[in-house]
Amino acid sequence: MTKITNLTCEYRTNPIGIDIVNPRLSWQMQTERQGARQTAYRILVASTIEQLTEDKADYLDSDKIESDQSVQVAYEGQALTSRQRVYWKVQVWDETGTMNESDVAWFEMGLLESDDWQSQWIGANLSGGVQSMIPVPYFRKDFALEGDITSARLYITALGVFECSINGQAASNDVFAPGWTDYNKRVQYLTYDVTSLLKSGDNTIGAVLGDGWAAGYVAWAGRQNYVDRPQLMAQLEVTFGDGTRKTIASDGSWMYQYGPITHSDFQMGEAYDARKERQTTDTSDWMPVQIFSHTNIDLTAQIGPTVQQIQELSSVIDPIDRGGMSRSRWVFDLGQNMVGRVRFKGIAPAGTTVTFRFAEILDADDTLYTTNLRSARATDYYTFKGEGEETWESKFTFHGFRYVEIEGYHGDVSKDTITGIVLHSAMKQTGTFECSDPLLNQLQSNILWGQKGNFLELPTDCPQRDERLGWTGDIQVFAETATFNMDIAGFMTRWALNVRDAQNPDGSVPAVVPYAGNVPTDGGPAWADATIICPWTVYKSYGDKRILEENYESMNRFMDFIVENSPGYIRCAPDYEGWHGFGDWLSVNANTPRDFIGTAFLAYDASLMVKIASVLDKPDDVAHYQQLFEDTKAAFANHYLVGSEVSPVAVQASELRRELDAADKLTQGNLAKVDYGDISSTVFNTDLFTPTQTAYVLALYFDLLPDDLRSAAIDELVADIEGRGTHLSTGFVGSPYLNYVLSQNGRLDTAYDLLNQKTWPSWLYAVTQGATTIWERWDGWTEDKGFQTPEMNSFNHYAYGAIGAWMYSTIAGINIDPLQPGYKHFSLSPQPGGGLAYAHATLETAYGEIVSDWKYDGNTFTYNVVVPPNTTATVTLPVTGKGQLNGKAVQGQSHLLDAGQYEFVVEI
Ligand code: BGC
Repeated sequence: MTKITNLTCEYRTNPIGIDIVNPRLSWQMQTERQGARQTAYRILVASTIEQLTEDKADYLDSDKIESDQSVQVAYEGQALTSRQRVYWKVQVWDETGTMNESDVAWFEMGLLESDDWQSQWIGANLSGGVQSMIPVPYFRKDFALEGDITSARLYITALGVFECSINGQAASNDVFAPGWTDYNKRVQYLTYDVTSLLKSGDNTIGAVLGDGWAAGYVAWAGRQNYVDRPQLMAQLEVTFGDGTRKTIASDGSWMYQYGPITHSDFQMGEAYDARKERQTTDTSDWMPVQIFSHTNIDLTAQIGPTVQQIQELSSVIDPIDRGGMSRSRWVFDLGQNMVGRVRFKGIAPAGTTVTFRFAEILDADDTLYTTNLRSARATDYYTFKGEGEETWESKFTFHGFRYVEIEGYHGDVSKDTITGIVLHSAMKQTGTFECSDPLLNQLQSNILWGQKGNFLELPTDCPQRDERLGWTGDIQVFAETATFNMDIAGFMTRWALNVRDAQNPDGSVPAVVPYAGNVPTDGGPAWADATIICPWTVYKSYGDKRILEENYESMNRFMDFIVENSPGYIRCAPDYEGWHGFGDWLSVNANTPRDFIGTAFLAYDASLMVKIASVLDKPDDVAHYQQLFEDTKAAFANHYLVGSEVSPVAVQASELRRELDAADKLTQGNLAKVDYGDISSTVFNTDLFTPTQTAYVLALYFDLLPDDLRSAAIDELVADIEGRGTHLSTGFVGSPYLNYVLSQNGRLDTAYDLLNQKTWPSWLYAVTQGATTIWERWDGWTEDKGFQTPEMNSFNHYAYGAIGAWMYSTIAGINIDPLQPGYKHFSLSPQPGGGLAYAHATLETAYGEIVSDWKYDGNTFTYNVVVPPNTTATVTLPVTGKGQLNGKAVQGQSHLLDAGQYEFVVEI
């Protein structure tokens, strides 16, 4: 039996309110039959379910198409217009010639034309200041409906963050909608089906509006970065049985009033005074709203997942009394560094205010360590109304924390007093990784939690201090790992749009996206290059060609910018007047010159552009970028490799740059101890710079060395690692590739040694210190030095979690074939080592679940795999010996498999 399931449209199930006029449809075959694959499909799209049931497809009947494509088939039917809902199904012929039909799914268009919008931007009177917050306004509109309501849609957005209700019932579960875009240019709107919330007669629509990113504190820039106060725009469209439509649009007739939330801000926290909850239905004191105009802001339908409540955590130990005799201060430990908010339950007299503070980690005296939050106050307040048990959750703030301290509460406390509510963009977890080493399993958990905490609306550096920005470098290094853990396709599609919006007219791409002042407008090497690298990563993992098409022009402009600013193909040369980049951020006693990193990334970008242009079938561009790659590689060799003729001026300039880097406060001291003593290399020109692990890694990974230098480069890299007592020295830039370079060049042993290293700098060091997320720095806390500088010491930064991709792809062996992206064909080539007895990984792909599961005891290698329907996999066994496949003798190490479940057993 084959079932055709998981019908999605633009990565969503039955989406409503999309504005993509050729949405992409995907489906899955579900069957355990070996060799199951699709040979043809027929898509039917109709305006009613009834028609579709009879195969009368008035929007699209694709006819039977001989094709195995089951992922991202673009809709090419009758033009879709605003509000149109269509129903669709697909008929799939499998390899036996049998046709199987899916159930019915649908998608619905949002408001496609600007004159579909009749609503106005509305707001309240208070605006506060750059450093002063305002109470949270509530908006309402009473209206009457007559007749039989057949459907109702709410189109709604805000400059700020909103929650909306109709007749007291929440219109959705979305949190912090409409998310963060560059509000000077664009804001997303949400579409909700609110039919069941309305009734014939009197109705009320209400909304509450927080500052969010638009009006609240962003990074270190204070409040009011886009608007001086939050504003709302809403349009409720009600359709009646007779086909008529009534629209209730935000306008001057809406009213506002302030309520119990006396302030609310992402960084500062929220204050709630329950005594100010309205106890009356009398609305005579509500005031008419103010109207605002923003004609330049594009209204774009929500792309990708919204933020939602994902899970709840309870205190893992009984609350600890920190108030002594007064018993009014308690600390709760949720056992996991998380991001979100808390629910609090308690009983106290009216007017009692409880203060909540949040921390990722405890100080030596077991008190909350909050210095690393910098100016983020991260403090909530709840004031009781005194009416029995009261339960409270903040609305428009989030914190990064494991520990919660409450103060000022004299009632009974138990584990249940505080519940942690985890918030992040609602992406499906797609990957699991487990092996025989509990420390590596904890590392995997830390990576996953780093992703949860920092994939809240956009890929951020950290979720707790006064920063929380979309640093391009951080997602550049982590994106590949992220695609294993969760389905990030929709999330990154929105990110890619934000990149286009943030790109400067000269083609440069800022260090943070959406752009938020006070950071370089040119992100520099390895940061801005996310523009090329991330869409390519998404393409490979999800087969998403459209993200390449949509960003192609922007990528080209970026390439032109870096080429223009790289005379002789040396990017960020010491005499370059622009921004030189962040270097190999947070490396340890190893300073890779910024021009070296820049030039290496220029070449790498060019090599990716060759692939991208080839996917998009642009042969001229392929040739152009191939030439650019060759030229840059040649320039790189002439400049950095041994025997190169570098002028004394260049050497001097480079020394100067090196000193500047070492003195650079941004890197916070990790370079202070660079030893520039005698060094020799048969690979690099040591007159110009001191080779670092990152230098070897980039040169090897980006294919910048002539073949005859590769093995020397590996040897020197390993020697450097060993010279440091089997430690890495790489920062953000080199770390993601380090283990790949080793395992792909015959040094799997060293890669495992590094992975298993438990003293810092290493991946497992933080794990041995009880970390439950990835730390920003290798030495966030050490026994001899204590905490690193509070100026930059987050305990929830995903960048060093980039090792996760190597764990999935090398330990568990799941590898993409970029020529058949999205796991249409993939390889399974596990590389056991490091004393591991087993590894087990799963990955939910667009076709179904891949399983890669091996056991190894030195004598027998047992390998169980699952290849999803409509895909193929090439298995490469890591050992040779007497082999069996599903109980039958088999020879050879490499096997091309079609869909199915297989077991290999090899006696070594
Ligand atoms: C962030 C990083 C970011 C960096 C720029 C830091 O403040 O937390 O993760 O990439 O600045 O180098």
